Amino acid sequence: MARFTLPRDLYHGKGAMEALKTFQGKKAMICVGGGSMKRFGFLDKAVAYLKEAGMEVRLFEGIEPDPSVETVMKGAQAMLEFEPDWIIAMGGGSPIDAAKAMWIKYEYPDITFEEMCKVFGIPQLRKKAKFCAISSTSGTATEVTAFSIITDYQKGIKYPIADFEITPDVAIVDPDLAETMPKKLVAHTGMDAMTHAIEAYVSTANCNYTDPLAIFAIKMIENDLVASYNGDMEKRDAMHDAQCLAGMAFSNALLGIVHSMAHKTGAAFADYGAHIIHGAANAMYLPKVIAFNAKDPTALKRYGQIVDYMEICDKTASDEEKVKALIAYLRKMNDELNIPHCIKNYGADSYPCEQGFVPENVFLERLHDIAVNAIGDACTGSNPRQPSVEEMEKLLKCCYYDTEVDF
Ligand SMILES: NC(=O)c1ccc[n+]([C@@H]2O[C@H](COP(=O)([O-])OP(=O)(O)OC[C@H]3O[C@@H](n4cnc5c(N)ncnc54)[C@H](O)[C@@H]3O)[C@@H](O)[C@H]2O)c1
Ligand SMILES: [Zn+2]
Repeated sequence: MARFTLPRDLYHGKGAMEALKTFQGKKAMICVGGGSMKRFGFLDKAVAYLKEAGMEVRLFEGIEPDPSVETVMKGAQAMLEFEPDWIIAMGGGSPIDAAKAMWIKYEYPDITFEEMCKVFGIPQLRKKAKFCAISSTSGTATEVTAFSIITDYQKGIKYPIADFEITPDVAIVDPDLAETMPKKLVAHTGMDAMTHAIEAYVSTANCNYTDPLAIFAIKMIENDLVASYNGDMEKRDAMHDAQCLAGMAFSNALLGIVHSMAHKTGAAFADYGAHIIHGAANAMYLPKVIAFNAKDPTALKRYGQIVDYMEICDKTASDEEKVKALIAYLRKMNDELNIPHCIKNYGADSYPCEQGFVPENVFLERLHDIAVNAIGDACTGSNPRQPSVEEMEKLLKCCYYDTEVDF
């Protein structure tokens, strides 16, 4: 038996945020990030709509990008004091993910972070509050997923919390919010969405319910992402839907080792003054992982289907040739989006450069531990090929040096 879970309601299209007016409840806590939602007036709008619905509203502001365990604990404490019956999380993946974890701790104050990280081990929620997510970036799709990514900065590791319990009750996918994204954010979150859709399509947990969502999302991202990056607002709006479709697919089909590697490298070099931004990490590792996974006959065939649907290679070509076309296409997208091809060339500002912020000797020193952690990541289990530690180390090296994957 397989399970397919999505939010009970999804409001989409320009102005969809107005749906907040129809919510029933007494108290809403709005969780937001560092200021973009306030700056562009979306926070005030949300507060006004909720007040119109007769609710008392309190804010929890300042959730940082790649939120920490400490922030989650602080937010949960604020919820315990205010006792909301609605949690409204607004912004990019970071504040929404943090709010999901706060929600768990609010409903179960004694639960530890380690207990939250047990895959599909979250106790029943919604005894105290329902959850609405309003996404402002076009990538993570956390507004519809069963995941939350929280960073333990002491360990330098991102931990996914995974359970359908944290799939929001309501998702609001209003493209007005995505239109204010700066270019770099469009690029990174867009490639995150592309990775979600491709990993979901070849995941061992794919099914008839997830395939159409994944493959249609891939086609939309192919059509819309670069133009959105270059300022086409109609395409920007379409990307907001595309990333959400990809999210519906991967929340139910799960992901693969591109994400395992991104989770375990993202904060691993934070002591060198920067992060490898989630979407950029995915964009760099995806072509390498495709070459690795394509040694699996089922994955090879499914990459071929993706390429046929994208119409980027002659339909009569072999699946091996189609995989090459897919890798070349994705690398071209990285070039068009100003994303480097490997960690060695990943600058602290995320742009390509000769020598990136991760020194070679530090990378090699930490390689073994990162490989072990990546294999242990919750996303590894559904990858079409299960790498050994040695293979994972080799793969990570290809991602550092941009060398070819031939194993
Ligand atoms: N839960 C999931 O299923 C899932 C999936 C993939 C990634 N993630 C996680 O999500 C996080 C990344 O989220 P993200 O990529 O959405 O970015 P983010 O939430 O970290 O936001 C990045 C920056 O963009 C700003 N911003 C957000 N929306 C904006 C807008 N509309 N206009 C202008 N500025 C805006 C924010 O203020 C912030 O400074 C990572 O921690 C990643 O691991 C979660
Ligand atoms: Zn992702």
